[in-house]
Amino acid sequence: MNMAVCADKIREKLNTEFVGRNIIVYDKTDSTNTRAKEMRDEAEGTVFIAESQSCGKGSKGREWVSESGTGIWMSILLKPQIDIVCVPQITLVAGMALKRVLGDKAQIKWPNDVVLGTKKVCGILTEMSVMNGKTEAVVCGIGVNVNQRSFPAEILHRATSLFLENKHEYDRNLIVAEIVNEFESLYKIFVREGLSPLLSEYKSSCVTLNREINVIYDNKTITGTAVNIDLGGALVVQTQDGLAHINSGEVSVRGIYEYV
Ligand code: BTN
Repeated sequence: MNMAVCADKIREKLNTEFVGRNIIVYDKTDSTNTRAKEMRDEAEGTVFIAESQSCGKGSKGREWVSESGTGIWMSILLKPQIDIVCVPQITLVAGMALKRVLGDKAQIKWPNDVVLGTKKVCGILTEMSVMNGKTEAVVCGIGVNVNQRSFPAEILHRATSLFLENKHEYDRNLIVAEIVNEFESLYKIFVREGLSPLLSEYKSSCVTLNREINVIYDNKTITGTAVNIDLGGALVVQTQDGLAHINSGEVSVRGIYEYV
């Protein structure tokens, strides 16, 4: 039996200091990222979560399919005292939290997808609101496909869910709590010390590394081998013309032969 998303059920499994201490649940909303940006005066760490989204936002302006009662559609409101250029790295931090929660088989497709095998199970969309050149608030939106039995034909070849992979239903409240717990512990390190102490774990989970890839960047397609992730979270690509450092947030990465 698929239980509804419930703030109390999530909260009882939390071991955090501030992330998830305030949880706002919607039965239906347009996008939890939009709600969180509008309500950016709420405390840092507030989690916005919806049973369904009518205008779920994916990266690069795409729609994020957010069927009712099946997945996790959540956004975490953050107020980090970090340089604006570092904000997209929060996507990498969230990806690591998801990888930890989803286990050994999960891998991170740089910068914002978590995959099981060759299909995407989770997407992350980090947005920010800026005032006078300073980061006012950051919203880290996380979508996880949990109990879906099927997907629309257009995304069937590249989307999967935990149910489809493992043939049993999951308690979404428990998964949300695990994500929040892992996210806070990684985020605290990130805000204090940057990506450096997290990079080796990130790289060991990153399916993009050592692959031939196409990067669509600045309206150009760069082809090469992904050889590293640098301290700024950029993907380092060996191209015919030398090394290119590609920043997250502005790119689309495609494996040459398959989705991953
Ligand atoms: C991607 O395209 O990979 C990013 C998907 C992000 C989806 C999540 S669902 C919760 C939050 N609210 C949104 O509208 N989008 C993000």
